[in-house]
Amino acid sequence: MYQFKRTLVTTALPYANGPVHLGHLAGVYLPADIYVRYKRLKGEDVIHIGGSDEHGVPITLTAEKEGISPQDVVDRYHRLNQDAFLKCGISFDYYGRTTSRIHHTTAQEFFTEIEHKGIFTKKTEKLFFDRKADRFLSDRYITGTCPICNNPEANGDQCEQCGTHLSPLELINPKSKLSDATPELRDTMHWYFPLGRFQPQLEEYVNSHKSDWRQNVVNYSRTWLNQGLNDRAITRDLSWGIKVPLDLKEAEGKVLYVWFDAVLGYISFTREWAEQMGQSDRWKTYWQDPDTRLVHFIGKDNVVFHTLMFPAILMAWNEGRQSDCYNLADNVPASEFMNFEGRKFSKSRNYAVYLGEFLEKFPADTLRYSIAMNYPENKDTDFSWQDYQNRTNGELADTLGNFIKRSVDFTNARFDGEVPYECTAEDWNSLGINWPDTLEQLDLAFEGFHFREATSIGMDIARAANRFLTEAEPWKAIKSDRTEAARAIALSLNLCHALSVTLYPVIPETCNRIHAMLGFEGTLEDHFKQGSSLFDSLHVPRLKKGERLREISEILFKKLEDADIAPELLKIEGLLAEAEKREAGAVRERMDFKPLISFDDFAKVDLRVATVIAAEPVKKASKLLKLQLQVGPDTRQVLAGVARYYTSEEIIGKNVILVANLAERTIREEVSEGMILAVEGTDGRLFLIEPAGIEINGKQIQ
Ligand code: MF3
Ligand code: ZN
Repeated sequence: MYQFKRTLVTTALPYANGPVHLGHLAGVYLPADIYVRYKRLKGEDVIHIGGSDEHGVPITLTAEKEGISPQDVVDRYHRLNQDAFLKCGISFDYYGRTTSRIHHTTAQEFFTEIEHKGIFTKKTEKLFFDRKADRFLSDRYITGTCPICNNPEANGDQCEQCGTHLSPLELINPKSKLSDATPELRDTMHWYFPLGRFQPQLEEYVNSHKSDWRQNVVNYSRTWLNQGLNDRAITRDLSWGIKVPLDLKEAEGKVLYVWFDAVLGYISFTREWAEQMGQSDRWKTYWQDPDTRLVHFIGKDNVVFHTLMFPAILMAWNEGRQSDCYNLADNVPASEFMNFEGRKFSKSRNYAVYLGEFLEKFPADTLRYSIAMNYPENKDTDFSWQDYQNRTNGELADTLGNFIKRSVDFTNARFDGEVPYECTAEDWNSLGINWPDTLEQLDLAFEGFHFREATSIGMDIARAANRFLTEAEPWKAIKSDRTEAARAIALSLNLCHALSVTLYPVIPETCNRIHAMLGFEGTLEDHFKQGSSLFDSLHVPRLKKGERLREISEILFKKLEDADIAPELLKIEGLLAEAEKREAGAVRERMDFKPLISFDDFAKVDLRVATVIAAEPVKKASKLLKLQLQVGPDTRQVLAGVARYYTSEEIIGKNVILVANLAERTIREEVSEGMILAVEGTDGRLFLIEPAGIEINGKQIQ
């Protein structure tokens, strides 16, 4: 592997539109923090840059709903989230905001550079305009009936009920969320970033990381590349955002698209960090020296913005330049999602545990540990209160905490708070822990972003340590063989030190307390030195005979009683009951029959049995399958919203009932010539109606 001289870590900028919850922590901020703390421990040069994403439509929507200004919204949540991260020990080197002056300048600089090179294209399109409110409506400001499932409250960009991505033009009866007016279509001109122009370079970039990026990251990116990259509009008709920096009539009232500006926040915030340190050019080393490793921690929903869009923007900047060229990310460890008690976190439905609120009741390290052990590295995982309680009590309190306390208390009681024996390398290697192997495994785990594994290795050392102390029984040995007891306890103290180092990236506050109990001056961080790794100090016993402990002994972890988590369990019960009520309401709605139709009306419907002969997914419509149906001698193409319930493989060969004379419809640039019948279970699941046991046209239908 290429040896980089330093590392720049970034974390996705959360929208300053609501509090961050445990799902965000698990996917992005905790793994990033573990990684940077590990690197600092190894004496490497690393910085962690993050901040708030303060533009975008969700923010103006919140502001309008609450009758406050967008600035008020972002001020509130920026502070809230920054505080919560601080309390959780997420050690940002800089936490910025995209409303800052430097950020506006940086984003505008990028726009201008790319505009001057003539890379952007401009297109005029028809967009909905609200005459009452006198403004263009972005997708999120429009609601209407979903053309796929008839949900009357679909959003302009997506239908929440069936999950289909929509364009506002596809909505039936579109309405403005601002005034309820029926919007009209008006011409508007926008700047587009021609992603396709960079397709060959992006292919090469993604392909070069096929073996070192996570599978999901390569797959998401490849899917986009395989579909062919299109032009993306990078300006919007909005007032909240970064102004298009051109003195033209056509630029008036337009701002940069929030994603174009947000990713550049990583750069602006590094600039602000450098400025704050009084070394205003230092940011360049982190962005432009090819010896710097750039790593973006994100959730899986942000992959293509970081593997295709942002790199393409940087490629556009770099084009034709000899100097001041930006590095592309070396890795983009995107996480899967962590669910909460078996369901997806949902901010809009308030089904979440917010980080700040959690930390008002429970300590950060117990949360960090539980979440690290449930890190959604390759698959979705779950956070449950029960698991949190079990890990806190069984692993942190009984195993780790208990071992440290027994070792320290015994030393204080029987050896006057002094390390009573000089451990040799031989003693150290007699513990059944192969230090070189263990340290290498740990290194591979941290460096490979396998944080669950790294944390488990740490806890395994704690288990081995506990076992050693229990078997050595120095409290008995001391009666017959003081040296033997001294040896056992000195080894235990050295294990305490080893644990304070190996577990530091995950539970830093606790490790600092262990560090203090062992008699070290200052915090662990005070002992970090660039170029020298504290990890290396574990190859040999670190504590020497005669060194003094602090003669304090703390209970590191308070056990969680059932009574402590009972209110939390009650709260979820409430949330779940609410969700169930909502779902039951939806069922009742389904029982509200539609108006009567005449027999003649019904007789117009032509139903036929058809066989599915081919099936494939539909681009950008995760709920749809494109089916080819055999109906007698004809074939028909039908788009069916069943992709969540049937795979293409499963559906091929099935006999279904086709509404054969339904008017043709175009969805996602594909025609659908009919519809197939299915029934909906109470949980919303769809089941195809499959005629069986009958004979049609001399053929037995199975
Ligand atoms: N605010 C976005 C979200 O919460 C993430 C932005 S990441 C950035 O999904 F790179 F663009 F900043
Ligand atoms: Zn729908």
